[in-house]
Amino acid sequence: MGYQRPFSLGFVALAFLHPYRCSPVAESFATRTTSASSSAVSVKLGGVTYVNKGIVGFGFIPSNFTESTGDTFGGVGSAIALKYGTWESHSDGTYTGTLVVHPDRGFNIISTIDYRARQHEVNFVLTPYTGSADLSFEAAQQTLQLKYIDTTLQFDRGGGNTSGLDALGVRSEESGFSTNPVADPPMPIANETYQHLTLDIEGLVAHSDGTYWISDEYGPYIYHYAANGSLIQTIQPPDAFLPLDNDGNLNFTSAVNPTTGRAGNQGFEGLTLDSENDILYAMLQSATIQDGGDNDDTSSFTRMVAYDIANPTVKEPTLVGEWVVPLPVSTSKSKTRACSEIHFVSENVFLALSRDGNGNGAGNDTDDTTSKYKQADLFSIQNATNIAGSKFDNPSNPVAPGGSLVSKITPATYVSFVDYIDDVQLARFGLHNGGDEDQTLINSKWESLALAPVNDPSNPNDYFLFTASDNDFLTEDGIFNRVPYNAGVNVDNQFLVFQVTLPSVPAGSIANSIGV
Ligand SMILES: *[C@@H]1O[C@H](CO)[C@@H](O)[C@H](O)[C@H]1NC(C)=O
Ligand SMILES: *[C@@H]1O[C@H](CO)[C@@H](O)[C@H](O)[C@H]1NC(C)=O
Ligand SMILES: *[C@@H]1O[C@H](CO)[C@@H](O)[C@H](O)[C@H]1NC(C)=O
Ligand SMILES: *[C@@H]1O[C@H](CO)[C@@H](O)[C@H](O)[C@H]1NC(C)=O
Ligand SMILES: *[C@@H]1O[C@H](CO)[C@@H](O)[C@H](O)[C@H]1NC(C)=O
Ligand SMILES: *[C@@H]1O[C@H](CO)[C@@H](O)[C@H](O)[C@H]1NC(C)=O
Ligand SMILES: *[C@@H]1O[C@H](CO)[C@@H](O)[C@H](O)[C@H]1NC(C)=O
Repeated sequence: MGYQRPFSLGFVALAFLHPYRCSPVAESFATRTTSASSSAVSVKLGGVTYVNKGIVGFGFIPSNFTESTGDTFGGVGSAIALKYGTWESHSDGTYTGTLVVHPDRGFNIISTIDYRARQHEVNFVLTPYTGSADLSFEAAQQTLQLKYIDTTLQFDRGGGNTSGLDALGVRSEESGFSTNPVADPPMPIANETYQHLTLDIEGLVAHSDGTYWISDEYGPYIYHYAANGSLIQTIQPPDAFLPLDNDGNLNFTSAVNPTTGRAGNQGFEGLTLDSENDILYAMLQSATIQDGGDNDDTSSFTRMVAYDIANPTVKEPTLVGEWVVPLPVSTSKSKTRACSEIHFVSENVFLALSRDGNGNGAGNDTDDTTSKYKQADLFSIQNATNIAGSKFDNPSNPVAPGGSLVSKITPATYVSFVDYIDDVQLARFGLHNGGDEDQTLINSKWESLALAPVNDPSNPNDYFLFTASDNDFLTEDGIFNRVPYNAGVNVDNQFLVFQVTLPSVPAGSIANSIGV
């Protein structure tokens, strides 16, 4: 394939391990050598060494780009997946494929909008840049060339429209479908008798059978969609996750926190598949309310669930696992670095994209533009307590009351790994962290991960880690349902590609790969 080994491994430095102790885990940064831009960073977890070889690709789709329905393209890094079977390596050292990208609930400048759920397909050519010299911003954009192809809308059961509006209503359970969050239709079609299923999509899995699984923040639910956008089924998580009011009733609004269950806008940000065993994993962005999630000082003990989806005829897949994952906490202010995505690596091991909210799109003073923590970290559930089906699935039994983990539960082991805001790496692609709020400032909200094999015989465990940002539809030149909007700032849809070594990934466990 003519693919060149990109970086010298001569400067590998081992990061310090941060084994779990009884208090939240302070954020940590994998150590790298200071001088060489080509230095790799490695970290050990469960006796295995993982290596981050740095950024190899950058690209973006402009903030004002319009998709085939006529709406602004924005927000597409809420979730991404490689379309099954599209990944190819070529003899000239380039790689091609199709990314399926998913925006969340539309622009949210004054309030939520009646945005119909949809996913887009974007073709790409990756020409990995492994040199140490700094590229210009223009040259950097050639490393990941992105071309929008098409959009597929996703519908409510029976073919009705979905909505991004705040989910003020509740639809009762019906055969094959759990209780659902819904919103009233907007005024112009107020004669409709049904309420629209509301979706705020943050996770996406492309299954080898051609269907898609998506995860949401309102529920927090998992939805199974056919490729044509028709809804197949819904997974409702255990009671401990559901937003319940004082009377124990469901209320899916994201505007205020419930009494127990997922916090507002802190739903299933993470969704990933162990494709070999057909186990779907979903993780909350931060702790449930009963586990300290009402305050970002105490919200670090989040939960991940696992469902067996091997039998597609089962209407409600079986819960097969549930674990506590300790998210990093800022050293200075004890703020949780909430997690915007997870990705399956190998049995028991996952990537977790945990971050602050600073960067492009967050504002224009120095505090706003300077990110302090944006990392694709690693965690392992090898030694963690499986609490699925236990008393902790009842919201009256928190796993971490007030943010302190109960002693009988062993959480996942979490270690620092890929740093998005390494100044040397960013500069290689004409990018920067902090300073001016311009096109070359790294975006604030990175929320998606996808892996594809490098297919290099001399580095058989190497993968490309694709990641994209949610630009929140921020553009001065926006359009929705034929009506223009102006968000007062332009934030492009940025994409980055890292090269990482992930040993012990069993063949076939990374969905969408061909040629391995
Ligand atoms: C789990 O425990 C075993 C035995 O102590 C240890 O060898 C292994 O490294 C641990 N795994 C992780 C991910 O910490
Ligand atoms: C986006 O903005 C650029 C620069 O202002 C402009 O050239 C382009 O025509 C705009 N594209 C769309 C689709 O509005
Ligand atoms: C769905 O929404 C589109 C766009 O707003 C609208 O044109 C269409 O009539 C709606 N369909 C239904 C069944 O409400
Ligand atoms: C949920 O709570 C919101 C705000 O507190 C309220 O407006 C709405 O009516 C409630 N919905 C239900 C179904 O109780
Ligand atoms: C709803 O509006 C449509 C289009 O305006 C109309 O054809 C239909 O008869 C109305 N339905 C009801 C129940 O009023
Ligand atoms: C969409 O695909 C599903 C599953 O393949 C199929 O049952 C359904 O009829 C299709 N719907 C439309 C409108 O084509
Ligand atoms: C900075 O942001 C504020 C508020 O969003 C805006 O009013 C101001 O014009 C911005 N300043 C610059 C230099 O962009």
